[in-house]
Amino acid sequence: MCRRLAEKLASVLADRQILRDPDLLRSYESDWTGRYQGHAALVLLPTRTEEVAAAMRICHDLDVEVVAQGGNSGLVGGGVPRDGQVVMSLSRMQNMQPVDEAAMQVVADAGVPLSRLQTHVRAHGLDVGIDFAARDTATLGGIAATNAGGTRVVRYGTARRHIAGLEAVLPDGQVVTRLSGMPKDNVGYDLRHLLIGSEGTLAVITRLQVQLHPIVRHRATALLAVDSLDRAVTLTSRLCRDLEDLESLEVFFRDGVELVRRHHSLPLPIAGDRPVYLLVECAGRHDPTDALLEWLEREPEAADAVMAVDEKDRARLWRYREAHTEAINAHGVPIKLDVSVPLAGIADFERRLRAVRAASFPELMMVLFGHLAEGNLHINLVGEPASPEDAVVEEILRLVADCDGSIGAEHGVGQAKSRWITLSRSRSEIAVMRAVKQALDPRGVLNPGILFPPTSVQA
Ligand code: MLT
Ligand code: ZN
Repeated sequence: MCRRLAEKLASVLADRQILRDPDLLRSYESDWTGRYQGHAALVLLPTRTEEVAAAMRICHDLDVEVVAQGGNSGLVGGGVPRDGQVVMSLSRMQNMQPVDEAAMQVVADAGVPLSRLQTHVRAHGLDVGIDFAARDTATLGGIAATNAGGTRVVRYGTARRHIAGLEAVLPDGQVVTRLSGMPKDNVGYDLRHLLIGSEGTLAVITRLQVQLHPIVRHRATALLAVDSLDRAVTLTSRLCRDLEDLESLEVFFRDGVELVRRHHSLPLPIAGDRPVYLLVECAGRHDPTDALLEWLEREPEAADAVMAVDEKDRARLWRYREAHTEAINAHGVPIKLDVSVPLAGIADFERRLRAVRAASFPELMMVLFGHLAEGNLHINLVGEPASPEDAVVEEILRLVADCDGSIGAEHGVGQAKSRWITLSRSRSEIAVMRAVKQALDPRGVLNPGILFPPTSVQA
């Protein structure tokens, strides 16, 4: 099969676009963290939508499974082959069209990394409402496929809000294109929203039309240290209510800061020793510094706070937050669980989570951080679990469900959580999802094993 497949693919792709050498395949076969590792039959490097479509048609006709991959910065194993799939890497698709200044939109290929798009549009006084630490590697296609969040969701919402149109290749090679970008365009089902967040299970996204907004050049950033997550939640609601320029509201904890400090040899970010940190950033067309400063002075619960004095200082404060992922991974490959809980209940969830860890898996180091305004916590567990890993994951995800939370906040379900989606979606919702999958991909060639629970644990 592999020879026949390679021969057919060679009729639509150049030799250099088909990787077979095991040494060259390796970096496509595991995720960034090193947790998910599999085996790819081939890696394809198309440069245009037509090539994706032609290759997809061949794979479909031969019943060959395909995994779409962007920057391979995902954290749930959603873009990693498991067992001999073909990897359709979008990494060579990096074209960006000129910015449409009238509509404040730009069309770009799925393989464009977020930071490249940011640079492209900022030259026009515009910006992308999405940002996060992996900006240099995460690609637009992956951002759409996971409906990524990041550090600006409190102001601009998740990726869904920024995607005005897209183009995608269906499993049988048909191309669907909706790049009109018009804000009013209601003619039937919105395939764009169906494909956003579908984790590569329904189609391979090849181009996106990104909605931009005027750049806000003035930023004010503060780091607050508080006694508990309860306090941080109280401050979060007040910040959201009082500061119209609020753009980021990130949370992390003492143990995470210690890891980051050790990894990068950094000093304490703020004098004193409080367990919870809140990173607050406002951004406006006019300097929001005074508004944030006045708010901090008025707010008795924000006694321990430092404000960035310039751009360098701002980057210094952000480093304590953005370096978490890397510092944790340097300690050991973590079990990563990205969950969200209603804000009002998140402090209670944190208490229960810490109690569960102490009682059930004290051998694991647990580091939490996340995006507090959305009740989104990234749970990182490092170490060798004494009980089976699935039991650890299940106990935590059941706790999330018990706190009315979601087991998948912004990283997706991927391989990591497919067997537990019944904790966050009802039988009928999963049945509808399966029907959609069946309609678009009846042969099940795209991203098998992703998103849907294995049949043994079906809802
Ligand atoms: C972040 O917020 O930094 C990302 O979601 C990455 C992570 O969770 O490690
Ligand atoms: Zn995050």
